[in-house]
Amino acid sequence: MRILLFGKRGQVGWELQRSLAPLGTIIALDYEGDGELCGDFSKLAGLAKCVRTVAPDVIVNAAAHTAVDKAEAEPELARTLNTLAPGVLAEEANRLGAWLLHYSTDYVFDGSGDNAWQESDPTAPLSVYGQTKLAGEHAIAAACAKHLIFRTSWVYAARGNNFARTMLRLASERDQLKVIADQIGAPTGAELLADVTAQALRSVQQKPQLAGLYHLVAAGETSWYGYARHVIEFARHSGENVRVAPEAIEAVPSSAYPLPAPRPHNSRLNTGKLQAAFDLQLPDWQVGVDRMLAELLGK
Ligand SMILES: NC(=O)c1ccc[n+]([C@@H]2O[C@H](COP(=O)([O-])OP(=O)(O)OC[C@H]3O[C@@H](n4cnc5c(N)ncnc54)[C@H](OP(=O)(O)O)[C@@H]3O)[C@@H](O)[C@H]2O)c1
Repeated sequence: MRILLFGKRGQVGWELQRSLAPLGTIIALDYEGDGELCGDFSKLAGLAKCVRTVAPDVIVNAAAHTAVDKAEAEPELARTLNTLAPGVLAEEANRLGAWLLHYSTDYVFDGSGDNAWQESDPTAPLSVYGQTKLAGEHAIAAACAKHLIFRTSWVYAARGNNFARTMLRLASERDQLKVIADQIGAPTGAELLADVTAQALRSVQQKPQLAGLYHLVAAGETSWYGYARHVIEFARHSGENVRVAPEAIEAVPSSAYPLPAPRPHNSRLNTGKLQAAFDLQLPDWQVGVDRMLAELLGK
């Protein structure tokens, strides 16, 4: 199997390089590309040519405009990267008879209520990022039947910057922390996303009727405040130098930190469809977070 992977240096792209390796030959690109091969999502003709040159059996797209607040100021670039480029990949995949695997987001929802969103629930994105990602889903579904789209949330990886790393740094510098408590979701590891992607890719080779849209997040739920407390408690138990006591973390509303792009309050995603289709059991969010923290802290 020839697998063309875009966004190889991102959180998910990096882990996909590992999880997809046993499934075939991976041609992995970032936006700088590789020789003749263009991996830059702002160059749509180059992207189409790249797919034609590689002629893969599977395209996995981990590239995106993920800077949610910046996207409000550059909606055209966000649309090119999150909507038009996935549309081009879908058209080219369809022409080749290839599969296209892609990631979307809880930001397609408006975050109302407190039920876990199902795939069939009405979408109403609050931000440019959410709008352009939703339009990307539609572009893929319209152009290529052989697709898997995984909507996920609150993605972290040991590599690169992430919320836990920021909390650990702040907790070593300050005696007090204020963290948002009115946004609820599930921190989801890039490792888990990559592993489930590989398993789903195997499954659709045998059962192409599993093509479609799925919610994919770790089990359970928390707020950013709950996530922060978990991180600080883990660090203290590990003997790290942490000035903030878990009780000294203050729960604040989203309005305490106004940002250009509004965030959904309810990011819960119901993963029943995915677990049934691919015979999977998704682990609690703490399982992956604890592994990431152990790696970060060298424990
Ligand atoms: N992060 C989250 O919390 C989250 C939540 C829900 C859904 N998702 C979705 O999950 C997927 C993977 O996200 P992630 O967290 O792995 O994101 P990430 O770490 O930001 O990775 C995105 C990748 O896209 C690349 N990229 C940026 N501009 C590009 C361009 N013009 N052409 C080609 N590549 C470009 C980035 O390269 P550089 O780093 O070099 O710029 C980076 O390697 C995305 O579809 C995202 O929308 C993420």
